[in-house]
Amino acid sequence: MSITETAEELRFDDSLFIVSKTDLKGNITYANDLFIEMSGYTEKELIGAPHNILRHKDMPRVVFKLLWDKVQAGEEIFAYVKNRAKSGKFYWVHAYVTPIVDVKSNKIIGYHSVRRSPNPQAIAVIEPLYRKMLDAEKSGGMQASLAILDTTLSQLKVSYAEFILSYE
Ligand SMILES: Cc1cc2nc3c(=O)[nH]c(=O)nc-3n(C[C@H](O)[C@H](O)[C@H](O)COP(=O)(O)O)c2cc1C
Repeated sequence: MSITETAEELRFDDSLFIVSKTDLKGNITYANDLFIEMSGYTEKELIGAPHNILRHKDMPRVVFKLLWDKVQAGEEIFAYVKNRAKSGKFYWVHAYVTPIVDVKSNKIIGYHSVRRSPNPQAIAVIEPLYRKMLDAEKSGGMQASLAILDTTLSQLKVSYAEFILSYE
């Protein structure tokens, strides 16, 4: 489906969470009511669809690579993500993504994402950083994009997780 991205932002209440679960490939297996409302898709359209149905072209690829590397290794990750609704409007989220582990087999059976409304101060920092990373990706690929993130973190003397969580 071709969607025209617009400059119109959607917001959601600070006290609410956008929740989804996926299978091992990132296909949506569960979406809560707020996910459905914000995305603009019906539950029927969402269940079984790949999570990149929400992918916004302003997002650097390397953010999703970091996300997948972490959760496939059984770890958690926090990330700021700009999502694209079916209408083409965008909404920023602060996502906490974790693997779902089967207690009996101790194997990862899917993934879970819980998203809050981000602090606008964080977005004021993240937006220009992502823009720089995306530009770097266009010419130098993911390595160049990662180098920008690493330089930013080392200048601030913080880890990725500390950086992401520093705007709480
Ligand atoms: C639990 C979970 C939640 C995800 N949530 C989003 C999301 O909200 N928006 C998004 O663009 N990608 C999300 N992704 C990442 C997508 O699977 C995908 O990697 C990303 O959209 C980039 O698309 P691409 O891999 O086709 O380039 C999520 C992945 C997982 C495992």
